[in-house]
Amino acid sequence: MASARTLSRDDQPSRSINIFLSRYRDIVGAAARQVKGGRRSAARACCGKAFAAIPDGADRLRMLRPGHPWPGVRRAADALLAFSNHARPHPIYNSASASKPERNVEFGFTEEQLMIQDVARRIAQEKIAPSAEHYDRTGEFPLDNIKLLGENGLMGIEVPTEYGGAGMDPVSYVLAMVEVAAGDAAHSTIMSVNNSLFCNGILTHGTEEQKQKYVRAIAEGAEIGAFALTEPQSGSDATAMRCRAVKQADGTYVINGKKSWITSGPVAKYIVLFAMTDPDKGARGISAFMIDTGRAGFHRGKTEPKLGIRASATCEIEFADYVAQPDDLLGEEGHGFKIAMGVLDAGRIGIASQAIGIARAAYEATLAYVRERKAFGQPIGAFQMTQAKIADMKCKLDAALLLTLRAAWLKGQKQKFTTEAAVAKLTASEAAMWIAHQAVQIHAGMGYSKEMPLERYFRDAKITEIYEGTSEIQRLVIARHETGLR
Ligand code: CAA
Repeated sequence: MASARTLSRDDQPSRSINIFLSRYRDIVGAAARQVKGGRRSAARACCGKAFAAIPDGADRLRMLRPGHPWPGVRRAADALLAFSNHARPHPIYNSASASKPERNVEFGFTEEQLMIQDVARRIAQEKIAPSAEHYDRTGEFPLDNIKLLGENGLMGIEVPTEYGGAGMDPVSYVLAMVEVAAGDAAHSTIMSVNNSLFCNGILTHGTEEQKQKYVRAIAEGAEIGAFALTEPQSGSDATAMRCRAVKQADGTYVINGKKSWITSGPVAKYIVLFAMTDPDKGARGISAFMIDTGRAGFHRGKTEPKLGIRASATCEIEFADYVAQPDDLLGEEGHGFKIAMGVLDAGRIGIASQAIGIARAAYEATLAYVRERKAFGQPIGAFQMTQAKIADMKCKLDAALLLTLRAAWLKGQKQKFTTEAAVAKLTASEAAMWIAHQAVQIHAGMGYSKEMPLERYFRDAKITEIYEGTSEIQRLVIARHETGLR
């Protein structure tokens, strides 16, 4: 790409500028027209689209603006730059009645949010999507791609920069997760565990030393993290865990027990583990520990063969007299269950975003297909039965995205978001499953074939209805909140 200096020089009227303009002419022109017409919210929306579409949009426009001969381009550049300088949240969704104004939500995308979306999209489309079929077929762990995501700040999006992260907000996390998941769901699973399940809890409950030691390594993409809550006999009923951490006279804990379905378990360097320190106290007898998988007493079982997200490695792990030091305790003793639940609230926003990415990929493939594929003398998209499916896919996809952004926005505002995260995850995962199902149906034989990614989307979508709380658990969380009954 040309440098700013090169592009701004008058004596180089610039093939690059013309290439740039011809590619983005429609979108820049649309922004200019809305600005000229004084239509503020439409202008904002067009500007947002332009930033999403144009790589390095703000920088390029700053270069273009000064001497460009086309007034329309100058106006558009002004509008886009004003948008980037004063990116104000755009009130597109209000979730609650006026009696609860604090639950209202407003959002638009800032330039930073659109930039991280763009970075994620480029890596997803250029590196992840082309290799997705290989990793799905072989089940290999995509370490190089994960490191690349880490180097670009995508393994610690909400992690403050002083701990090696990107220092962004939950909305940025949603936007980036959607892009990566649209490239390949398995990559986004690994990304979501590192971001939401691993870093989140340590940032909220960890000591300064724990943040420096564990969060930095994961956020920078140098190591992989995992989260160990589920056991062979306890999934949804998480408090029924049997893994024991017995406190010794010297303050250390001796840990024994098994954990199952550990995402990234086969490759994780560090794990956030939940174990019973006081079984008589039930949920209040659970504590969280930081585990170093290089230490004695930690063992990995076989990697699980899975229906989908096959490149995300999953295994059982076992502790046999593993000794945790007093400073390996995360948060206070007995607070582990609340830490796990808080972390899962955030995690559910990540899984909702993943579901949206899978659904969007299936939807976009379907849109292209129904325009091209002909039957009975016309594109199949012209048939009302197909059109109804497309309309329903679009509605479910948009609803899922808006609900997920609402949950992320509330999290960013430090408001409670447990119910909203459950609503988002439930809606998005069921939308993904439904959309992937319709996409396969519309593609018919080609949808069933491994020559196209539709069957992979279909297999990958299913897990979003299962992990980080099944759809049944999301309904339970929502209904308990709404009724006050349990
Ligand atoms: N935030 C903070 N605290 C919470 C909370 C939340 N969201 N939800 C509950 N708590 C607290 C409660 O306030 C209560 O505290 P007190 O004892 O002080 O009153 C305590 O936790 C116990 O709460 P409940 O009585 O509501 O607990 P419960 O036994 O009825 O379980 C549940 C509630 C919602 C069903 C919960 O067990 C649950 O979410 N289960 C699903 C577990 C899950 O999602 N597993 C996924 C595994 S991880 C995974 O999939 C990762 C991966 O690999 C990708």
